[in-house]
Amino acid sequence: LIHLLSTEGLSKDILTHILDTASNFVSVNDREVKKVPLLRGKSVFNLFFENSTRTRTTFEIAAKRLSADVFNLDIARSSASKGETLLDTIDNLSAMAADIFVVRHSESGAPYLIAQHVAPHVHVVNAGDGRHAHPTQGLLDMYTIRHYKKDFSNLRVAIVGDVLHSRVARSDIHALTTLGAAEVRVVGPRTLVPADLASMGVRVFHNLEEGIKDCDVIIMLRLQNERMSGALLPSSQEYFKSFGLTEKRLQLAKPDAIVMHPGPINRGVEIDSAVVDGPQAVILSQVTFGIAVRMAVMSIVAGNEA
Ligand code: CP
Repeated sequence: LIHLLSTEGLSKDILTHILDTASNFVSVNDREVKKVPLLRGKSVFNLFFENSTRTRTTFEIAAKRLSADVFNLDIARSSASKGETLLDTIDNLSAMAADIFVVRHSESGAPYLIAQHVAPHVHVVNAGDGRHAHPTQGLLDMYTIRHYKKDFSNLRVAIVGDVLHSRVARSDIHALTTLGAAEVRVVGPRTLVPADLASMGVRVFHNLEEGIKDCDVIIMLRLQNERMSGALLPSSQEYFKSFGLTEKRLQLAKPDAIVMHPGPINRGVEIDSAVVDGPQAVILSQVTFGIAVRMAVMSIVAGNEA
């Protein structure tokens, strides 16, 4: 694995290897991540052309725990605002001896363009491109599910919400089906669920109660208002009434079901506060596990594994 651009096409062995590598970075209490010298002398450039709280910060922490030097390009203050192209920006940062580019971009495919352009010793990690893919989120979601449920083969997983605009949903579906989840469901309004999903081997539901019934894992997604316009935009109240996860609705899932969310959360829109702060939510554990998973990804693409 030279770049990580998508979970699509990654084999079960590679996915499992990434998750196993991540677990090696985590101490026994499952929270602390060790500092290791695997990327000492390497330079990681965080290029976030779209906003981020969790992904950008955990990539920075992960790179520092790998002993790399990390540079966060402030895109708003960069010369991209003066018309410098994406690839010219990449060439200039490459001239500063970048080893890994971590790229988030609103255009689907931007990290692929960069990966085709850089020298062979430079690695690209997709930190979310448009509505296409968010592979490290997919991987940290798999890490979280494996942590709480141990084995994928008996699991019924529901992905709920604005699937149409969600790069997380796509990355999760590819990873879950490859890892052998028993059933992957997608739940959402007709306008926000793409028509081609059945061909990806998932079951589609347009009713929340039916969709989460007897599930082991529920992954909630926010409405990606920034990628919608006009008719697609439901009102928050209407949406919550039909598709908001409440404590009462959660009772339809298995009693030990876990509730996940990639963040950012919109409380009272796709999920009730009582669920976010309740005992079945593992949302902040996802964030914590993201550090070890991103360490694993960067050390593997750079060829400097433990
Ligand atoms: N899950 C996720 O991608 O969050 P951020 O947008 O804050 O990075």
